[in-house]
Amino acid sequence: MSAADLDRAVEVLRQGGLVAFPTETVYGLGADAGNELAVRRIFAAKGRPSTHPLIVHLTDAAALDDWAQEVPSSARRLAEAFWPGPLTLVLPRSERASDAVTGGQPTVALRVPAHPLALELLARFGGGVAAPSANRFGGVSPTTAAHVRQDLGGEVDLVLDGGPCAVGVESTIVDLASPEPALLRPGGVAREELERVLGRSLPLRAQGGPRVPGTLPSHYAPRAGLVLVAPSELGARALALALQGRKVAVMGELPGRLPAGAGHFPVPSDPAAFARALYATLRQIDEAGFEVIVAATPSPEGLGLAVHDRLTRASAPRKPED
Ligand code: TXA
Ligand code: MG
Repeated sequence: MSAADLDRAVEVLRQGGLVAFPTETVYGLGADAGNELAVRRIFAAKGRPSTHPLIVHLTDAAALDDWAQEVPSSARRLAEAFWPGPLTLVLPRSERASDAVTGGQPTVALRVPAHPLALELLARFGGGVAAPSANRFGGVSPTTAAHVRQDLGGEVDLVLDGGPCAVGVESTIVDLASPEPALLRPGGVAREELERVLGRSLPLRAQGGPRVPGTLPSHYAPRAGLVLVAPSELGARALALALQGRKVAVMGELPGRLPAGAGHFPVPSDPAAFARALYATLRQIDEAGFEVIVAATPSPEGLGLAVHDRLTRASAPRKPED
């Protein structure tokens, strides 16, 4: 990674191209948020329906007023406490936020990422960068530059490599555009920390529907099916599936005996370390050709809530075309 790469990345953005860049959560697929044609290229590259809104990445909290029509004091407090960092705020949009970015909704999602390369890119570019996770629609988010190249190599003009992502799951999304603040997606900032700063509880609002892909039941899914069990049942369930002739991967602690032909993929029990390892492990399992994953989720506290959420979605029934 050199200053010349960053200069090229800025040039690509200015010309309406796509730059994949590291953030502290996952890699993003970025385009100039002020250029509707460039933003449309993101949807084409990902295979994402155009009504699904994107997050606009900003250099600092001062840019909030450019993109949001109204900025409540709760937004300023959260920005002050957690930006740069893995928190996205949904606010009433300003005129600068185009329909291409917001999917036609009256709100816009905004965040200041914490990765030094992302911040440098944003500072040099000087505008907002619209970026979803740099994976194909519905799949597992990329936490390394190699993952991005595997998923979207042919569609991206430039991939900035900033090493593996430190957080490993996407940002927490908080809706501050509704009368009552709500958690739309658990992520890299724990709900408990947000509640402490807000001084009130933050209920989880499952939005469902086609407009918020991160809240579709089967989102964030590996190719392999995923079965969630209590930690004590990992071994028994893996054995039952293996006896049915399935190629089983156990993700978590090694059960007493691993069934013949099954694979074991350890993940840390600490929730933050589990989050960091989650997507790379799911990708490894897919690459090794396993059909079904048996896993146990951490308890839904702190970063465990985000891991719990992603695993639950990945275990939801899917349509064949997903
Ligand atoms: O950590 C992250 O948030 C990463 C990095 C690259 O910043 N980005 C990311 O983007 O996860 P994406 O597009 O994969 O997920 C963004 C989520 C989607 O579920 C989208 O529907 C939701 O944010 N979103 C965007 N704008 C919204 C809005 N105006 N209201 C509600 N949800 C919104
Ligand atoms: Mg995504």
